[in-house]
Amino acid sequence: MQDISAYISQNKDRFLNELIELLKIPSISADKAYAKDVIKTAAVVKKSLADAGCDTVEICETAGYPIVYGEKLIDPNLPTILVYGHYDVQPPDPIELWDSPPFDPVIKKTQLHPEGAIFARGSCDDKGQMYMHVKAFEYMIQANQLPCNVKFMIEGEEEVGSDNLGLFVAANREKLANDIILISDTSMISNDVPSISTGLRGLSYVEVEVTGPNKDLHSGVYGGAVANPINILSKMIASLQDDQNRITIPGFYDKVENLSKAERAKMAEAPFSLEAYKKDLGIDAVYGEEGYTTNERNSIRPTLDVNGIWGGYIGEGAKTVLPSKAFAKISMRLVPNQDWNEITDLFTKHFLSLAPKGVKVKVTPHHGGQGYVTPIDSLGYAAAEKAYEKTFGKKPLPQRGGGSIPIVALFEEELKSKTILMGFGLDSDVIHSPNEHFGVWNYLKGIETIPYFYKYYTEMSKG
Ligand code: BES
Ligand code: MN
Ligand code: MN
Repeated sequence: MQDISAYISQNKDRFLNELIELLKIPSISADKAYAKDVIKTAAVVKKSLADAGCDTVEICETAGYPIVYGEKLIDPNLPTILVYGHYDVQPPDPIELWDSPPFDPVIKKTQLHPEGAIFARGSCDDKGQMYMHVKAFEYMIQANQLPCNVKFMIEGEEEVGSDNLGLFVAANREKLANDIILISDTSMISNDVPSISTGLRGLSYVEVEVTGPNKDLHSGVYGGAVANPINILSKMIASLQDDQNRITIPGFYDKVENLSKAERAKMAEAPFSLEAYKKDLGIDAVYGEEGYTTNERNSIRPTLDVNGIWGGYIGEGAKTVLPSKAFAKISMRLVPNQDWNEITDLFTKHFLSLAPKGVKVKVTPHHGGQGYVTPIDSLGYAAAEKAYEKTFGKKPLPQRGGGSIPIVALFEEELKSKTILMGFGLDSDVIHSPNEHFGVWNYLKGIETIPYFYKYYTEMSKG
C-alpha cells in the first residue's frame, strides 16, 4: 500500500471539494422543513458510492429518511466489512453563534489544526468521517487493492434515534451479513495521541411536563397559595442528584459495571490536562460525581442532564405570571449492563413519585439505546491498532467514549457482529455546537488509515 500517500496528495483538493459540496446540503433530520435536503443528500451519497466503485447501490426507503446501501463483493471466501455512517446532521442552532454560515463550508486554521479545518455543520459528525470511507474505498478500487468484500450502510436518521434503521437491520439480516462493522463517528485523544474508541454510552431521553392550575394566573393574586409548576419542577430536578452528585433514582446504579482498580489505572495513563480542559471551556472547576476523575465521569459513569427547561414568561421585560405548566427534556447517559428501557421505567416511577399534591406530572420517553463495549482482545481491534500504528507511527490507546450510537448494540444483537470504532475527530471539533469543524489533516489521515484496516483485517482473518 505504498502509493496511498501519493494517491491522497494527488487527489487532496478533489477529496476536499467533494466533501464541501456534501456539507452544503442542510440534511437536518430533526426539522421537517429540510426533508428535501435530507433526501437530496441520500442521492449524493448514493452517487458517490457508485462512482467510487460499488457494484450495487440502492436507496432503501423507510418510514422515515432513506438508507443508502452499496456493496462490492469480490469473493465469498473473503471477509466482509460493513461500513456504517450517517449523512444527517444536527440542527445548527444557535445559528447566531457561528462565525461563518453552517452550510457554507470554509477552511480556517486553528491552534489544534494548523493545516486547516473545515467549518460546517456535519463536517466531523458525520459527513466528513463517513466520506473518508468512500474515498478510502475509491483508492482501494483504483489501486486494485481491495482485499475483501465491503458493504456500506449510510443512514439519515442517526441524530433522531435511528428507529427506522433498527427495523431495516432486523428485516435484512442476510443482506447485511458481515464479519465486522466499521464506524468512524467518534473522536480520538489528539492528533499526537491516536486512540480507538472502545465504548459508547447508552441513552435514555425523556420529556417531563408539570401542570399546576388550569390556566396562567396573576402571580400576585394567586402567588403563594397555588403550586407554581416551575418552582416544583426545579425542586424535583434538583433532588435527582445528591450532594455527591450521585443520581438518586432508586435502582439506578444496580447494574452499573464497576471497573477494577487495574482498569481504572490503565485509563488514567491516557494523557490529559485538566488545566487545558478547564481553559478550553472557560470554567474554573470541573464538577461531577465524587470519587471519579473527569475522564471517568464522562465515559464509564452514568449521568443525568437537563437538556432544556421552559415554561412561563421568557419574553422581554417582566411579566408577573404564575404559569400553568413547566417542561424539561432530560437525558441519562448509561453504561454497560444498564438497560435503557429499565432505566426509563425507573426514572418515570421515581419522577412521578416526587410530585407533591397540587400538580400533575407527565413523563414521555423519547428514544434511547444500549451502551456498547468493544473487546480489545479481538481480531478487529488488533487490525485497527496495527493500521493506526502504520499511519500515525504510534500505537493507539483504547479509550471509552461518552457519546452514544444506539444502533451499535442493536447491530450486535441482530447481526451478531462486533463493531470497531475508528474515529478521527477531536472532542474540541465541537460536534453539535456552533462552529463544528473537522481537521483537513484528520480527514486525510482517516482516508490513509482505513485501507490498512482492510488489509490487516483480511490478512489476520486468514490466520
Ligand atoms: N457521533 C455521535 C456520537 C459520538 C460522538 C460518540 C462523540 C462518541 C463520541 C452521534 O452522532 C450522536 O450525536 N449521538 C447522539 C445520540 C443519538 C440517539 C441522538 C448522542 O450521543 O447524543
Ligand atoms: Mn454521529
Ligand atoms: Mn451526532
